[in-house]
Amino acid sequence: MITLRTLFKKKESGEKITMISTYDYLSAKFCDQVGIDCILVGDSLGMVFQGGSSTLGVSLEEMIYHTKAVRKGAKESFVITDMPFMSYQVSKEKAIENCGRVIKETGANAVKLEGGEEIADIIYKLVSLGVPVVGHVGFTPQKINTIGGYRVVGKEEEAERVKRDFKILEEAGAFMVVLEAVPSALAKEITDSAKAITIGIGAGPYCDGQVLVFHDLVGLVEDIKPKFVRRYLNGAELFKKALSEFKEDVEKGRFPTEVESYG
Ligand code: KIV
Repeated sequence: MITLRTLFKKKESGEKITMISTYDYLSAKFCDQVGIDCILVGDSLGMVFQGGSSTLGVSLEEMIYHTKAVRKGAKESFVITDMPFMSYQVSKEKAIENCGRVIKETGANAVKLEGGEEIADIIYKLVSLGVPVVGHVGFTPQKINTIGGYRVVGKEEEAERVKRDFKILEEAGAFMVVLEAVPSALAKEITDSAKAITIGIGAGPYCDGQVLVFHDLVGLVEDIKPKFVRRYLNGAELFKKALSEFKEDVEKGRFPTEVESYG
């Protein structure tokens, strides 16, 4: 079973940490079986699973539902649940209540919160109460409307802000921080002096670990392919080929055969 200690041992020894963002039992089981260290139940499910245009509409109940399914498939992997938009920002009390629900009801090992200085007090309180917290800086999808669309965050004068937010999260007690869509040199500078574990997505090769969304990695997402995604499989093509073959077999009377039928 992967624990915080396992993850810190990997960081200390320079062994890279692997993380996949996914939302269901079977994909979580595949990740677990091949030894992926961490499974993030990302609120990207609002786009990838639900077909929405952002992550903003995802509810706490949906995150709990998906984390329960993932936890069943993840016997060894460390499970992290994304706290959805406005489930932790309203007040410390609300954050404690909602993060507490996730940990108690799903069996997740940690929660992930997006933001920097503005959520430091909340993170400090959660960690002091025994809730392991993962931070998320750089491009933070829950701020899509104020950031003004998907873009690299942390170029030129913005770099100081990202570095400052990272340090604040670390001091507040976040044991791990996701760096999303930041220049690779900035991710290196942060990682080189970081006590917390850094996980990159679109942040270059120097972080302590890397995360990709399962559906991107297996090539199921056809319409968008950000620069940082590597497709290891042509999933969409393979799925459609199988479905077309099924359709043709049924239409031509080739499915089911005797052996596929009960006597
Ligand atoms: O929601 C998500 O899947 C994420 C990862 C992309 C880091 O936050």
